[in-house]
Amino acid sequence: MDFGEVIARGTPQEIQTNPKVIEAYLGKGQPMLLEVEDLNVYYGAIHALQGISFSVDQGEIVTLIGANGAGKSTTLRTSPVCSARAGGRAVPR
Ligand SMILES: Nc1ncnc2c1ncn2[C@@H]1O[C@H](COP(=O)(O)OP(=O)(O)OP(=O)(O)O)[C@@H](O)[C@H]1O
Ligand SMILES: [Mg+2]
Repeated sequence: MDFGEVIARGTPQEIQTNPKVIEAYLGKGQPMLLEVEDLNVYYGAIHALQGISFSVDQGEIVTLIGANGAGKSTTLRTSPVCSARAGGRAVPR
């Protein structure tokens, strides 16, 4: 079902692989909104982020959890703007 409409019928296997069902649950193959690859951030000699990689797809809700001082704020501050100097790559799209 999708918005009250039956979009597929069949065996569980047929439903699982039906493109309309996949699209209804996961959305169309939208481009990545943000892709961070091997991000390293230093505060002087402190290597705060060590090779962080993640991606955020359109429509996704991503949470970042970790202990105090793990690097959550640093990740949020630097991911969209990380530079070659920081030793990584962020590709906002
Ligand atoms: N301006 C700064 N100068 C030096 N070190 C810093 C600075 N900001 C953060 N750090 C260090 O970098 C590491 C990551 O800190 P960050 O604030 O990103 O962690 P956090 O996961 O957001 O912590 P919290 O849960 O306390 O908010 C910690 O070891 C912290 O002490
Ligand atoms: Mg924080």
